[in-house]
Amino acid sequence: MKRLIYTLVIAALTLSNNSCTGNGADETTMKEALQGVFHIGTALNLEQIQGRDTESTDIVKSQFSAIVAENCMKSMYLQPREGEFFWDDADRFVEFGEQNGLFVTGHCLIWHSQTPEWFFVDDEGNDVSAEVLKERMKNHITTVVGRYKGRVKGWDVVNEAILEDGSWRNSKFYRILGEEFIALAFQWAHEADPDAELYYNDYNEWYPAKRDAIVGMVRRFKERGIRIDAIGMQGHVNMESPGLGLYRSAISAYISAGVKVAITELDISALPTSRRDSGADISDTETYSQQMNPYTDGLPEDVAAAWNQRMADFFRLFMEFPGGVTRVTLWGVADGDSWKNDFPIRGRTDYPLLFDRQYQPKPVVGEIVAMARAGADAEAGAPSL
Ligand code: XIL
Repeated sequence: MKRLIYTLVIAALTLSNNSCTGNGADETTMKEALQGVFHIGTALNLEQIQGRDTESTDIVKSQFSAIVAENCMKSMYLQPREGEFFWDDADRFVEFGEQNGLFVTGHCLIWHSQTPEWFFVDDEGNDVSAEVLKERMKNHITTVVGRYKGRVKGWDVVNEAILEDGSWRNSKFYRILGEEFIALAFQWAHEADPDAELYYNDYNEWYPAKRDAIVGMVRRFKERGIRIDAIGMQGHVNMESPGLGLYRSAISAYISAGVKVAITELDISALPTSRRDSGADISDTETYSQQMNPYTDGLPEDVAAAWNQRMADFFRLFMEFPGGVTRVTLWGVADGDSWKNDFPIRGRTDYPLLFDRQYQPKPVVGEIVAMARAGADAEAGAPSL
Protein backbone atom coordinates (compact mmCIF):
# COMPACT_ATOMS: atom_id res chain seq x y z
CA MET A 1 0.00 0.00 0.00
CA LYS A 2 2.80 2.37 0.97
CA ARG A 3 4.43 1.68 -2.39
CA LEU A 4 1.18 2.25 -4.24
CA ILE A 5 0.59 5.64 -2.61
CA TYR A 6 4.10 6.77 -3.51
CA THR A 7 3.72 5.61 -7.08
CA LEU A 8 0.35 7.31 -7.60
CA VAL A 9 1.40 10.62 -6.11
CA ILE A 10 4.68 10.72 -7.96
CA ALA A 11 2.95 9.87 -11.23
CA ALA A 12 0.37 12.63 -10.63
CA LEU A 13 3.14 15.07 -9.94
CA THR A 14 4.81 14.20 -13.23
CA LEU A 15 1.58 14.62 -15.17
CA SER A 16 1.06 18.06 -13.68
CA ASN A 17 4.42 18.91 -15.27
CA ASN A 18 6.11 20.27 -12.23
CA SER A 19 8.41 23.09 -13.19
CA CYS A 20 10.72 23.15 -10.18
CA THR A 21 14.37 23.28 -11.20
CA GLY A 22 17.58 22.86 -9.30
CA ASN A 23 18.36 26.58 -9.64
CA GLY A 24 15.01 27.97 -8.74
CA ALA A 25 13.21 29.32 -5.75
CA ASP A 26 13.00 26.02 -3.86
CA GLU A 27 16.25 25.76 -1.93
CA THR A 28 15.54 22.38 -0.39
CA THR A 29 18.48 20.08 -1.05
CA MET A 30 18.28 16.47 -2.20
CA LYS A 31 19.64 15.28 1.11
CA GLU A 32 16.91 17.12 3.03
CA ALA A 33 14.09 16.06 0.74
CA LEU A 34 15.19 12.43 0.62
CA GLN A 35 15.64 12.04 4.37
CA GLY A 36 13.79 8.90 5.40
CA VAL A 37 13.39 7.82 1.75
CA PHE A 38 16.92 6.64 0.92
CA HIS A 39 20.47 7.87 1.26
CA ILE A 40 21.60 9.96 -1.68
CA GLY A 41 25.29 9.34 -2.20
CA THR A 42 28.24 10.17 -4.39
CA ALA A 43 31.65 8.72 -5.10
CA LEU A 44 34.64 10.88 -4.11
CA ASN A 45 37.84 11.14 -6.14
CA LEU A 46 41.28 12.14 -4.86
CA GLU A 47 40.87 15.83 -5.72
CA GLN A 48 37.93 15.90 -3.35
CA ILE A 49 39.38 13.61 -0.69
CA GLN A 50 42.66 15.56 -0.56
CA GLY A 51 40.75 18.85 -0.29
CA ARG A 52 41.75 20.44 -3.63
CA ASP A 53 38.29 20.54 -5.19
CA THR A 54 36.23 22.48 -2.67
CA GLU A 55 33.65 23.50 -5.24
CA SER A 56 32.48 19.93 -5.43
CA THR A 57 32.98 19.08 -1.74
CA ASP A 58 30.66 22.02 -0.94
CA ILE A 59 28.04 20.31 -3.10
CA VAL A 60 28.73 16.99 -1.38
CA LYS A 61 28.17 18.56 2.04
CA SER A 62 24.92 20.24 1.12
CA GLN A 63 23.31 17.79 -1.31
CA PHE A 64 24.48 14.29 -0.38
CA SER A 65 24.04 12.08 2.67
CA ALA A 66 26.40 9.22 1.73
CA ILE A 67 29.87 8.78 0.21
CA VAL A 68 31.99 6.01 -1.26
CA ALA A 69 35.57 6.19 -2.54
CA GLU A 70 35.85 6.04 -6.34
CA ASN A 71 39.27 4.38 -6.24
CA CYS A 72 41.38 4.77 -3.10
CA MET A 73 39.95 1.78 -1.20
CA LYS A 74 40.57 -0.72 -3.99
CA SER A 75 43.16 -3.35 -3.12
CA MET A 76 45.79 -2.10 -5.61
CA TYR A 77 45.87 1.20 -3.69
CA LEU A 78 45.37 -0.09 -0.15
CA GLN A 79 47.86 -2.95 -0.35
CA PRO A 80 50.16 -2.31 -3.34
CA ARG A 81 52.71 -4.83 -2.03
CA GLU A 82 52.01 -7.76 0.23
CA GLY A 83 51.81 -6.59 3.84
CA GLU A 84 52.44 -2.92 2.93
CA PHE A 85 49.27 -0.96 3.43
CA PHE A 86 48.75 2.64 2.31
CA TRP A 87 46.07 4.35 4.36
CA ASP A 88 46.45 8.11 3.87
CA ASP A 89 43.69 8.67 1.31
CA ALA A 90 41.26 6.14 2.76
CA ASP A 91 41.72 7.63 6.23
CA ARG A 92 40.99 11.14 4.94
CA PHE A 93 37.98 9.86 3.06
CA VAL A 94 36.49 8.24 6.17
CA GLU A 95 37.26 11.34 8.28
CA PHE A 96 35.52 13.56 5.73
CA GLY A 97 32.45 11.37 6.04
CA GLU A 98 32.46 11.48 9.81
CA GLN A 99 33.04 15.23 10.00
CA ASN A 100 30.07 15.83 7.75
CA GLY A 101 27.69 13.23 9.17
CA LEU A 102 27.67 11.12 6.00
CA PHE A 103 26.89 7.41 5.63
CA VAL A 104 30.26 5.96 4.60
CA THR A 105 30.56 2.79 2.53
CA GLY A 106 33.71 0.95 1.43
CA HIS A 107 34.41 -0.09 -2.17
CA CYS A 108 35.55 -2.78 -2.65
CA LEU A 109 37.20 -5.72 -0.89
CA ILE A 110 37.39 -8.46 -3.52
CA TRP A 111 37.32 -7.69 -7.26
CA HIS A 112 39.09 -9.19 -10.28
CA SER A 113 40.01 -5.67 -11.51
CA GLN A 114 42.29 -3.18 -9.77
CA THR A 115 43.76 -5.95 -7.63
CA PRO A 116 47.57 -5.91 -7.40
CA GLU A 117 49.25 -8.64 -9.46
CA TRP A 118 51.10 -10.10 -6.42
CA PHE A 119 47.79 -11.21 -4.93
CA PHE A 120 47.58 -14.26 -7.17
CA VAL A 121 51.18 -15.30 -7.79
CA ASP A 122 54.18 -16.69 -5.94
CA ASP A 123 57.82 -15.56 -6.24
CA GLU A 124 58.22 -17.45 -9.51
CA GLY A 125 55.13 -15.90 -11.01
CA ASN A 126 53.01 -19.07 -10.79
CA ASP A 127 49.46 -19.03 -9.48
CA VAL A 128 49.35 -19.55 -5.74
CA SER A 129 47.56 -22.47 -4.10
CA ALA A 130 44.01 -22.21 -2.77
CA GLU A 131 45.39 -22.08 0.79
CA VAL A 132 47.70 -19.16 0.05
CA LEU A 133 45.04 -17.19 -1.79
CA LYS A 134 42.61 -17.73 1.09
CA GLU A 135 45.22 -16.50 3.53
CA ARG A 136 45.85 -13.36 1.45
CA MET A 137 42.14 -12.62 1.04
CA LYS A 138 41.49 -13.12 4.73
CA ASN A 139 44.39 -10.92 5.70
CA HIS A 140 43.36 -8.14 3.32
CA ILE A 141 39.71 -8.20 4.37
CA THR A 142 40.43 -8.48 8.09
CA THR A 143 42.98 -5.65 8.05
CA VAL A 144 40.90 -3.25 5.96
CA VAL A 145 37.50 -3.89 7.55
CA GLY A 146 39.09 -4.03 11.01
CA ARG A 147 40.76 -0.63 10.58
CA TYR A 148 37.45 1.09 9.86
CA LYS A 149 35.31 -1.00 12.20
CA GLY A 150 32.20 0.91 13.29
CA ARG A 151 33.09 3.83 10.98
CA VAL A 152 32.55 2.38 7.51
CA LYS A 153 28.92 1.32 7.75
CA GLY A 154 28.79 -1.04 4.79
CA TRP A 155 31.14 -2.82 2.39
CA ASP A 156 31.00 -3.89 -1.24
CA VAL A 157 32.47 -7.25 -0.27
CA VAL A 158 32.63 -8.85 -3.70
CA ASN A 159 32.37 -6.93 -6.97
CA GLU A 160 31.42 -8.39 -10.38
CA ALA A 161 31.67 -12.16 -9.87
CA ILE A 162 28.76 -13.20 -12.10
CA LEU A 163 28.29 -12.78 -15.86
CA GLU A 164 25.21 -11.79 -17.84
CA ASP A 165 24.36 -15.40 -18.66
CA GLY A 166 24.33 -16.30 -14.97
CA SER A 167 27.65 -18.17 -14.99
CA TRP A 168 30.57 -17.40 -12.66
CA ARG A 169 33.19 -14.99 -14.00
CA ASN A 170 36.36 -16.91 -14.75
CA SER A 171 38.53 -14.67 -12.57
CA LYS A 172 41.68 -15.71 -10.73
CA PHE A 173 39.65 -15.86 -7.54
CA TYR A 174 37.21 -18.24 -9.19
CA ARG A 175 39.85 -20.34 -10.95
CA ILE A 176 41.84 -20.89 -7.77
CA LEU A 177 39.04 -21.16 -5.20
CA GLY A 178 35.80 -21.86 -7.07
CA GLU A 179 32.57 -20.06 -6.19
CA GLU A 180 33.24 -20.50 -2.47
CA PHE A 181 35.54 -17.46 -2.57
CA ILE A 182 32.44 -15.27 -2.40
CA ALA A 183 30.99 -16.87 0.74
CA LEU A 184 34.43 -16.82 2.39
CA ALA A 185 34.86 -13.12 1.69
CA PHE A 186 31.49 -12.34 3.25
CA GLN A 187 32.28 -14.48 6.28
CA TRP A 188 35.65 -12.81 6.91
CA ALA A 189 34.17 -9.32 6.44
CA HIS A 190 31.46 -10.17 8.95
CA GLU A 191 33.96 -11.48 11.47
CA ALA A 192 36.03 -8.31 11.16
CA ASP A 193 33.04 -6.00 11.81
CA PRO A 194 29.88 -7.82 12.90
CA ASP A 195 27.84 -4.61 12.69
CA ALA A 196 28.82 -3.63 9.15
CA GLU A 197 26.36 -4.13 6.32
CA LEU A 198 27.64 -6.40 3.56
CA TYR A 199 26.83 -6.05 -0.13
CA TYR A 200 27.30 -7.96 -3.36
CA ASN A 201 27.95 -5.37 -6.10
CA ASP A 202 27.78 -5.76 -9.89
CA TYR A 203 26.70 -4.17 -13.19
CA ASN A 204 23.98 -5.28 -15.64
CA GLU A 205 22.12 -7.01 -12.82
CA TRP A 206 18.87 -6.45 -14.65
CA TYR A 207 19.75 -9.22 -17.16
CA PRO A 208 17.26 -11.96 -16.24
CA ALA A 209 19.83 -14.79 -16.16
CA LYS A 210 22.26 -12.76 -14.10
CA ARG A 211 19.48 -11.58 -11.80
CA ASP A 212 18.33 -15.16 -11.21
CA ALA A 213 21.87 -16.32 -10.45
CA ILE A 214 22.28 -13.52 -7.91
CA VAL A 215 18.94 -14.36 -6.31
CA GLY A 216 20.08 -18.00 -6.09
CA MET A 217 23.30 -16.95 -4.40
CA VAL A 218 21.42 -14.78 -1.89
CA ARG A 219 19.09 -17.68 -1.04
CA ARG A 220 22.02 -20.08 -0.50
CA PHE A 221 23.78 -17.51 1.69
CA LYS A 222 20.66 -17.12 3.79
CA GLU A 223 20.24 -20.90 4.15
CA ARG A 224 23.82 -21.13 5.36
CA GLY A 225 23.45 -18.17 7.74
CA ILE A 226 25.95 -16.03 5.83
CA ARG A 227 25.23 -12.34 6.25
CA ILE A 228 24.31 -10.37 3.15
CA ASP A 229 22.36 -7.12 3.51
CA ALA A 230 21.94 -5.72 0.05
CA ILE A 231 22.57 -6.11 -3.64
CA GLY A 232 24.50 -3.17 -5.01
CA MET A 233 23.30 -2.38 -8.54
CA GLN A 234 26.04 -0.25 -10.08
CA GLY A 235 23.76 1.54 -12.54
CA HIS A 236 26.16 2.53 -15.32
CA VAL A 237 23.46 2.90 -17.93
CA ASN A 238 22.94 4.74 -21.20
CA MET A 239 20.06 6.39 -23.04
CA GLU A 240 18.75 3.19 -24.59
CA SER A 241 19.60 0.42 -22.21
CA PRO A 242 18.24 -0.98 -19.99
CA GLY A 243 14.48 -0.55 -20.14
CA LEU A 244 12.92 0.48 -16.85
CA GLY A 245 10.72 -2.60 -16.79
CA LEU A 246 13.70 -4.95 -16.56
CA TYR A 247 15.27 -2.73 -13.93
CA ARG A 248 12.06 -2.75 -11.90
CA SER A 249 11.82 -6.57 -12.12
CA ALA A 250 15.37 -6.94 -10.88
CA ILE A 251 14.87 -4.62 -7.90
CA SER A 252 11.68 -6.52 -7.00
CA ALA A 253 13.41 -9.88 -7.33
CA TYR A 254 16.22 -8.90 -4.97
CA ILE A 255 13.84 -7.45 -2.39
CA SER A 256 11.70 -10.60 -2.58
CA ALA A 257 14.82 -12.67 -1.91
CA GLY A 258 15.13 -10.87 1.43
CA VAL A 259 17.82 -8.25 0.81
CA LYS A 260 17.76 -4.51 0.28
CA VAL A 261 18.86 -2.83 -2.94
CA ALA A 262 21.40 -0.03 -3.17
CA ILE A 263 22.04 1.74 -6.46
CA THR A 264 25.77 2.15 -6.04
CA GLU A 265 27.37 3.79 -9.09
CA LEU A 266 24.65 5.58 -11.01
CA ASP A 267 25.47 7.52 -14.16
CA ILE A 268 23.62 7.85 -17.45
CA SER A 269 25.83 8.33 -20.48
CA ALA A 270 24.38 10.81 -22.98
CA LEU A 271 26.72 9.58 -25.72
CA PRO A 272 26.19 7.10 -28.54
CA THR A 273 27.26 3.54 -27.88
CA SER A 274 28.08 0.69 -30.19
CA ARG A 275 26.96 -1.78 -27.53
CA ARG A 276 23.63 -3.42 -27.12
CA ASP A 277 23.81 -3.19 -23.35
CA SER A 278 25.44 -0.93 -20.81
CA GLY A 279 28.22 -3.07 -19.39
CA ALA A 280 30.92 -1.68 -17.14
CA ASP A 281 33.72 -4.23 -17.46
CA ILE A 282 36.59 -1.77 -17.19
CA SER A 283 38.86 -3.84 -19.45
CA ASP A 284 36.31 -3.74 -22.27
CA THR A 285 37.24 -0.55 -24.14
CA GLU A 286 36.79 0.78 -27.69
CA THR A 287 38.83 3.09 -29.93
CA TYR A 288 38.04 6.78 -30.35
CA SER A 289 36.27 8.27 -33.34
CA GLN A 290 34.84 11.76 -33.71
CA GLN A 291 31.48 10.33 -34.62
CA MET A 292 31.27 8.73 -31.18
CA ASN A 293 32.03 12.08 -29.49
CA PRO A 294 29.34 14.37 -30.92
CA TYR A 295 28.71 16.86 -28.08
CA THR A 296 32.07 18.47 -27.32
CA ASP A 297 30.49 21.97 -27.29
CA GLY A 298 27.55 21.09 -25.06
CA LEU A 299 24.45 18.94 -25.21
CA PRO A 300 21.76 19.91 -27.74
CA GLU A 301 18.54 20.87 -25.96
CA ASP A 302 16.58 17.83 -27.09
CA VAL A 303 19.29 15.45 -25.90
CA ALA A 304 19.57 17.28 -22.56
CA ALA A 305 15.79 17.09 -22.12
CA ALA A 306 15.74 13.37 -22.93
CA TRP A 307 18.64 12.75 -20.53
CA ASN A 308 16.88 14.71 -17.79
CA GLN A 309 13.70 12.74 -18.34
CA ARG A 310 15.53 9.43 -18.15
CA MET A 311 17.30 10.35 -14.91
CA ALA A 312 13.96 11.49 -13.42
CA ASP A 313 12.36 8.21 -14.56
CA PHE A 314 15.05 6.22 -12.76
CA PHE A 315 14.57 8.17 -9.53
CA ARG A 316 10.82 7.75 -9.80
CA LEU A 317 11.41 4.02 -10.12
CA PHE A 318 13.71 3.93 -7.08
CA MET A 319 11.03 5.71 -5.04
CA GLU A 320 8.57 2.93 -5.83
CA PHE A 321 10.35 0.82 -3.21
CA PRO A 322 10.32 2.68 0.10
CA GLY A 323 12.39 0.76 2.60
CA GLY A 324 13.56 -1.57 -0.19
CA VAL A 325 15.91 0.75 -2.06
CA THR A 326 18.00 2.16 0.76
CA ARG A 327 20.64 4.20 -1.07
CA VAL A 328 21.16 5.78 -4.47
CA THR A 329 24.78 6.74 -5.06
CA LEU A 330 25.97 8.65 -8.12
CA TRP A 331 29.42 7.76 -9.50
CA GLY A 332 30.74 11.30 -9.05
CA VAL A 333 29.46 14.84 -8.50
CA ALA A 334 29.94 16.84 -11.71
CA ASP A 335 30.19 15.84 -15.37
CA GLY A 336 33.77 17.02 -15.83
CA ASP A 337 35.03 14.47 -13.30
CA SER A 338 33.14 11.43 -14.52
CA TRP A 339 35.00 8.26 -15.51
CA LYS A 340 32.51 8.08 -18.43
CA ASN A 341 34.56 10.74 -20.24
CA ASP A 342 37.13 7.96 -20.65
CA PHE A 343 35.04 4.80 -20.69
CA PRO A 344 34.43 2.79 -22.80
CA ILE A 345 36.19 5.26 -25.16
CA ARG A 346 38.95 7.59 -23.98
CA GLY A 347 38.77 11.35 -24.42
CA ARG A 348 35.06 11.98 -24.94
CA THR A 349 32.81 14.68 -23.46
CA ASP A 350 29.98 12.99 -21.58
CA TYR A 351 27.16 14.36 -19.42
CA PRO A 352 26.25 11.51 -17.04
CA LEU A 353 25.86 13.12 -13.59
CA LEU A 354 23.50 15.44 -11.68
CA PHE A 355 25.77 18.52 -11.79
CA ASP A 356 27.24 20.05 -14.96
CA ARG A 357 30.83 21.10 -15.71
CA GLN A 358 30.21 24.44 -13.97
CA TYR A 359 28.96 22.58 -10.89
CA GLN A 360 25.40 23.76 -11.51
CA PRO A 361 22.55 21.38 -10.72
CA LYS A 362 20.69 20.04 -13.73
CA PRO A 363 16.88 20.46 -13.76
CA VAL A 364 16.44 16.88 -12.55
CA VAL A 365 17.86 17.82 -9.15
CA GLY A 366 14.82 20.01 -8.48
CA GLU A 367 12.56 17.28 -9.82
CA ILE A 368 14.06 14.73 -7.43
CA VAL A 369 13.42 17.13 -4.54
CA ALA A 370 9.82 17.63 -5.68
CA MET A 371 9.21 13.89 -6.11
CA ALA A 372 10.59 13.14 -2.66
CA ARG A 373 8.44 15.83 -1.09
CA ALA A 374 5.32 14.64 -2.87
CA GLY A 375 6.02 11.15 -1.55
CA ALA A 376 6.53 12.48 1.98
CA ASP A 377 3.31 14.54 1.81
CA ALA A 378 1.41 11.47 0.64
CA GLU A 379 2.84 9.50 3.56
CA ALA A 380 1.82 12.18 6.05
CA GLY A 381 -1.67 12.41 4.62
CA ALA A 382 -2.25 8.70 4.19
CA PRO A 383 -4.70 6.98 6.51
CA SER A 384 -2.95 4.63 8.93
CA LEU A 385 -3.26 1.04 7.76
C1 XIL B 1 36.25 3.06 -12.10
C2 XIL B 1 36.73 4.45 -11.68
O1 XIL B 1 35.66 5.35 -11.79
C3 XIL B 1 37.87 4.88 -12.57
O2 XIL B 1 38.43 6.10 -12.09
C4 XIL B 1 38.96 3.79 -12.60
O3 XIL B 1 39.94 4.15 -13.51
C5 XIL B 1 38.37 2.45 -12.98
O4 XIL B 1 37.31 2.12 -12.11
N1 XIL B 1 32.67 -0.57 -11.66
C6 XIL B 1 33.20 -0.35 -10.41
C7 XIL B 1 34.03 0.85 -10.16
O5 XIL B 1 32.88 -1.11 -9.49
O6 XIL B 1 35.02 0.62 -9.20
C8 XIL B 1 34.66 1.38 -11.44
O7 XIL B 1 35.30 2.62 -11.15
C9 XIL B 1 33.61 1.53 -12.52
C10 XIL B 1 32.96 0.21 -12.84
